[in-house]
Amino acid sequence: MDARDEQNPTTFAYEAKDGSKAPSLVCPTMRRRHHKIFRAMLLFAFAFVCLGLAGHVEPVLGNTDGVTSIFRPLSQPAQEIKETSLLVLAICGSIFAVVAGLLVYAIFRFRHRAGDELSEPPQVYGSNQIELAWTILPLLIVFVLILVTSRTIADIQNRKPPPTAVQATVIGHQWWWEIRYPELGIVTANELHVPASDGRGSRPTFLKLQSADVAHSFWVPQLAGKTDLIPNRENLMWIEPTKPGTYPGNCAEYCGTQHARMLIRVVVDPPGEFERWAKEQQQSASANASATAGRTVFFTNSCVNCHTISGTSAQGKFGPDLTHLMSRATLAAGALPNTRDNLRLWVRDPQKIKVGCLMPNMQLTDEEVDQVVAYLQTLK
Ligand code: CUA
Repeated sequence: MDARDEQNPTTFAYEAKDGSKAPSLVCPTMRRRHHKIFRAMLLFAFAFVCLGLAGHVEPVLGNTDGVTSIFRPLSQPAQEIKETSLLVLAICGSIFAVVAGLLVYAIFRFRHRAGDELSEPPQVYGSNQIELAWTILPLLIVFVLILVTSRTIADIQNRKPPPTAVQATVIGHQWWWEIRYPELGIVTANELHVPASDGRGSRPTFLKLQSADVAHSFWVPQLAGKTDLIPNRENLMWIEPTKPGTYPGNCAEYCGTQHARMLIRVVVDPPGEFERWAKEQQQSASANASATAGRTVFFTNSCVNCHTISGTSAQGKFGPDLTHLMSRATLAAGALPNTRDNLRLWVRDPQKIKVGCLMPNMQLTDEEVDQVVAYLQTLK
């Protein structure tokens, strides 16, 4: 047991460094215990930070299976944005290191020591040098950050479309993407095809972004930053990928229950391949003689009110254009791979796959579902 102060039994006898005795409210055992708890907490915090960093650094550096990463840009302007953000990160990281370093130093250098109760630390009231330093230095840093970021923003926003540029309009819907190429006469959905720029020439794609209902945001991390799609407004952006491939992206602005299933794919075609794709998309739907039963089901139900199949009487504008449905890799804005079985599931009851989506359960019989799917599969 620790000795109680004889005169005042609510306090503990406390022996200072110079041997003098003084009353203290904190029992020495408690003091030692607090120290131990504090040290254990610090160790735990350090371990957690290490674990957290290990979990984040590895996927960023070792990610090779095509998962989107802003740290692996494969197009302008994503490349330029990455360079700017690394500089901003470096500046902010240095500030953090200095501030955290000083904090840790102060915590250890001026920690509680035996005998501290008896003396007050030196009292300092204001210092012109220190106050000037912590006003001017941050001002300079902010100024550098403003210059660097505004140069990047201006670079990106002032880009003028060259005559070779592809023009496309992307319209956000709850919860899919309508894609139009006015100059090429193409309408499609959820998969934006663009040509790759290569050594032979620059061929950027300029996008007009619109919304049919609420605010959405177009984000394909490896190609460009986010740009919002806002009702009654047109936003502009451009991309200029150089490496052919498929780049996944998603809606980056909460837009309702199925926001998470509003995925976009940008397919970057080698130049000749893009022309071939465009030519195919410009064709009307093939008047395939097979699947007549499915065609009848499609045209006698209300499918035609929402969907367009060019070259037919189906001219609905509410849902995705189905003229070349089978040329797309996914269904329902990336919710499912575009296979026969998934198409059946979708036509039978879209609400099971995408709760709240605007396509209702048409109450078709199993036979009708099979027939419609057979018809849809002719839309190549
Ligand atoms: Cu569209 Cu979120």
